[in-house]
Amino acid sequence: MTDGKLPIGIFDSGVGGLTVLAAMQRRMPHEDMLYLGDTARLPYGTKSPDTITRYALQAASRLVAQRIKLLVIACNTATAAALPALRRHFAPLPVIGVVEPGATAAVESSRNGHVAVIATEATIGRGAYQEALQRLCPGIRVTAKACSLLVALAEEGWLNGRECESIVARYLNPIFAREDAPDCLLLGCTHFPLLLSPIRKVLGPDARIVDSADTTAQCVLDELASTGLLRIRKGKVQIRFFTTDDPERFARTGSLFLGASLPIKAVQLVDL
Ligand code: DGL
Repeated sequence: MTDGKLPIGIFDSGVGGLTVLAAMQRRMPHEDMLYLGDTARLPYGTKSPDTITRYALQAASRLVAQRIKLLVIACNTATAAALPALRRHFAPLPVIGVVEPGATAAVESSRNGHVAVIATEATIGRGAYQEALQRLCPGIRVTAKACSLLVALAEEGWLNGRECESIVARYLNPIFAREDAPDCLLLGCTHFPLLLSPIRKVLGPDARIVDSADTTAQCVLDELASTGLLRIRKGKVQIRFFTTDDPERFARTGSLFLGASLPIKAVQLVDL
């Protein structure tokens, strides 16, 4: 039987998934968490589905070897390419991805039934968000666009300013500056919540913008609660980080995504 005291495993191609970890900490403050960022092989978003699936299996295996009670794929690209493979491989371990929760949030937010989703090339190419949105709300109109440069902007910490806004505008204006525009923008990539400020500047203050971090955290909470694995007893909470490349860089860029300082002593270099 699975032990509720085990940590939750969270995996991303890099530091972007820390936005999901932060949302999970807010909802489940008593849970231990083990995060793996495969920074050595980032980005996943420009790679083929087979390569992404191979990487995702290796990364997830590393977490499973540590003993975890649930696995979160905090990477949109890895969820889009590898969720069914991971579920099959690690059954009966519960595996939760970010695509379905993000699509749920967008369906709830849109009023005119037209949603725009932006993500990496691999996520858009795989059609994962388009499929999930259609499944949740048959007939919904979806405009999907790969915005690869936005990942680099966020990694670089260019989160504001003229250059950043003009790149965001170049991606978003063709979608939103038209009569039958979507009324909701779904951020289908871990890195895009960091660019909320330039996105808001381009779309205006009233735009409906959703990401999957909060809805994924809620999904995890529901799953743990329904299987009796939720940790409610207070105690010392342990959050540990694995990275496949430089721990110092992981801690530095990770702090941006976590929205809090990430101590380097909590980060361990691992080889997959
Ligand atoms: N984590 C990826 C995602 O959410 C973005 C970075 C990458 O391309 O690896 O799609």
